[in-house]
This record gives sequence, C-alpha cells and structure tokens, in this order.
Amino acid sequence: MDLAYLAQLPEAEFVERRHRVLEQMQDNSAFIIFTETEKRRNNDCDYLFRPDSYFWYLTGFAEPKAALLLIKRAGQIESVIFVRAKDPLMEIWNGRRLGVECAAGQLHVDQAYDIEELATIFAEKTQNLTACYYAQGWQAWGDELVGGVFSDVIDWRPMLAEMRLIKSTAEIALIQQACHISALAHIRAMKQTRPNRYEMEIEGEIQHEFTRFGSRFPSYNSIVASGDNACILHYNENSAVMKDGDLLLIDAGAEFAYYAGDITRTIPVNGKFSEPQKALYELVLTAQKEAIQLLVPGNSIKKTNDRVIEVLTEGLVRLGILHGNVETLIQEKAYRQFYMHGLGHWLGLDVHDVGDYSQERSRPLEIGMVITVEPGLYISRDADVPEEYKGIGIRIEDNLLITEYGNKNLTSGCPKEIADIEAIMAS
Ligand code: GLY
Ligand code: MN
Ligand code: MN
Repeated sequence: MDLAYLAQLPEAEFVERRHRVLEQMQDNSAFIIFTETEKRRNNDCDYLFRPDSYFWYLTGFAEPKAALLLIKRAGQIESVIFVRAKDPLMEIWNGRRLGVECAAGQLHVDQAYDIEELATIFAEKTQNLTACYYAQGWQAWGDELVGGVFSDVIDWRPMLAEMRLIKSTAEIALIQQACHISALAHIRAMKQTRPNRYEMEIEGEIQHEFTRFGSRFPSYNSIVASGDNACILHYNENSAVMKDGDLLLIDAGAEFAYYAGDITRTIPVNGKFSEPQKALYELVLTAQKEAIQLLVPGNSIKKTNDRVIEVLTEGLVRLGILHGNVETLIQEKAYRQFYMHGLGHWLGLDVHDVGDYSQERSRPLEIGMVITVEPGLYISRDADVPEEYKGIGIRIEDNLLITEYGNKNLTSGCPKEIADIEAIMAS
C-alpha cells in the first residue's frame, strides 16, 4: 500500500475550510497566506521540508514556496494559488513539482500562477480592495508585499485558530491514527529499554515504529531522558547511557498526515520500579487519572489543574517531600519547584496547537477539542528532599478528544499502570 495514500484528508474538506474563511471575510478584502520555506541545516543540506500548518489546513499542498490568495469583491469570491513552476532540471535533482498547469485543478481553486509572479498578480488582483487579512511578522518579504499595498491589515490568526480548535470527524481519525502509532512506539521503547543502552537508541526504536505505520516525522523532537535528565523538560540530547536503577522519561509522538500525537511515559530502565519511584509514580498517575475524569465539556483545563495541584501537594506532604499545611502550601505555590508546567495544551496540526485558552486556561472545553493531559513531578538532584527521591522526573501524558460523553482517551493503547509496564518490559 502506498503510505502517502494514508495521509489524505478528503479534498472537499480543504475547499470547505476556504469557504468558511471567505464567509467570515469582510466585503472587498483579500486574504493571503504563505507556506514555510526550506531551511538550511548546514552548507547545502536542508532540513526535511514540512509545510506551514495554517497553509496546509487551507490548501492540502505540501510543497515549499507557495501562497494562497482569497478575494472577496462585491460579494464575488475568487481563490488563487501560487506555486513553483515546473523545472525539469530542478526536478531531476530535488524532486517533483505539481507545477502551475495542474495546480488549480488538483487543489480545487479558481486560478494558479507561478510564485515568481506573486507581487505583480497580488497588486493587480487586490486593486481597490480596502483590507487584507494577513499574519504580519511571519516572513519579512510577505510583510513587504502586503504592507506595500494595504494600510489596513487584519490578523487572520484568531479566525483560523478558532477553526482549527474544533476538529472535524476526518481530522479526528487522523489524530487517532497519530496517537495509535505513538502508543505502539512507546510499547516498542518499553521492550527495548535496558541498562547500558544509549537514550538515542531508544529514540531510534521509536522512529522505527513510527515509519512502519506511515509516520515519517515525530511531531516534535523526541525526549528520551534517563535519570535526572528527566528534570530538563525539553531535554533532547538523548546522548546518555541509561543506568540500572534509574527511570526513563520518554515524551514522543508521531506526526501522521501532519497531525500530532503527544505521549509521555516514564518507565524503569531495568524493568522494575523501586519503592520510592513507585510512590512518586503512583502519585502522578492518580493525579492524571483524576484530571481525565474532569476534562469534559464545560469544565476547563484551569479548574482541572487546580485539582491536580491539590492531589500532588497532598501526596508530596504525605511522602515527606513538602512540609506544612496543604492549603497554605498550595497558596504559596510550593508545588512549583516540582511541577512547573501546565496540565495540557491543544493538540492538532501542531503539537502545541493554536487556539485561545482564555485567562489561565479557563476556557470551557467543547466537543471536538483535542487536548493533552500531562501532570508531572521533577525532583532535582539538589532539592532539599529525602535522598531516595532525588533525581527523579516523572510525567504521564495522554491525549483526549472532548466528546458529548465526556472524553475519549486517544492514547489508551499505551500502558501506564506499573504492573502493565513491568509485564511488557519483562516480556
Ligand atoms: N512534547 C511536548 C509537550 O508535551 O508539551
Ligand atoms: Mn509531550
Ligand atoms: Mn504535551
């Protein structure tokens, strides 16, 4: 089976999204969006290209150097795509291009032009229009192009972020697949972890599992952090030798059809949790499970996190890591030295997906949102705590779809009970 085939959303969905944008635009206005450019890694080697998420969302077009222009003039609408022209020599060296001739038909837009003609055509097509929707500050040359023609620039990000926040049925299917592949990769990592292997070998095992199921990229750089490396939240050196007796925190998610999975699991390098590791792990797991119960329509990430903070603070006092009155400790934010990040974030085309959270993440959850739930505890080597808890970092992260019934855990295929993890690691 051609894996690229798996990566398609229905074409009608891109058309429908553009129509929703056009509907929201004021009359006599233009809308322009550019994709990412290729990025140089060193000398003449580029990073592998990945389209801009907003641009992909509206076009389903994955080549670099492209732009989409939408026009609404006296109620009449027009959609125009700008792409790289076909070039036999460049295509022999660097890969196929859709080209101008096929672009309009394939992408279901009214017209297509060579991207090199963008400035001329943009000026022509936008004559006498009063405003332009554009995300300023993304590309300097884009700012110049739009700023040269329009004084009234409206940021399209709030509009598009709201659209991206509520996922369609087809998008949910792709996110579910990204989550499923991510879960399989974590299970492989559990089976492959043992003392004296390098963290990056486990990163490789994860990547191997991703590609087996059509995921070319991780949705962010995989974090494979053993011992107190786990206390560096976005650790990605992945270069240490994993030691017997340490924990291993793996935060890795597959990107499937440009949609992200985002799972964290924390496992014992030697396959068995020690008693102090167990105590901290069970505390994070209890907090995470309680959060999952609470992340339902109408509730907010903030309210849920308040409960997580209570559970964690109570537990830290019970374990002798914090001392004092629980309520006072919460007021003083004593937990911040051990739990210093948020409970979760939107998930979609970007791992930290776009969308307004409102003040302190107090926005009520709605059906069709996808979020992560990822409490953690990170006890640094020099924390003033009982010796047995030092140098331990634990995070447990799942991905939830908010539904009319509450939520659906999209990453439930990835074990997180101590007994289940130990059983997999022993197999
Ligand atoms: N992997 C980044 C995060 O969990 O937010
Ligand atoms: Mn993560
Ligand atoms: Mn996350």
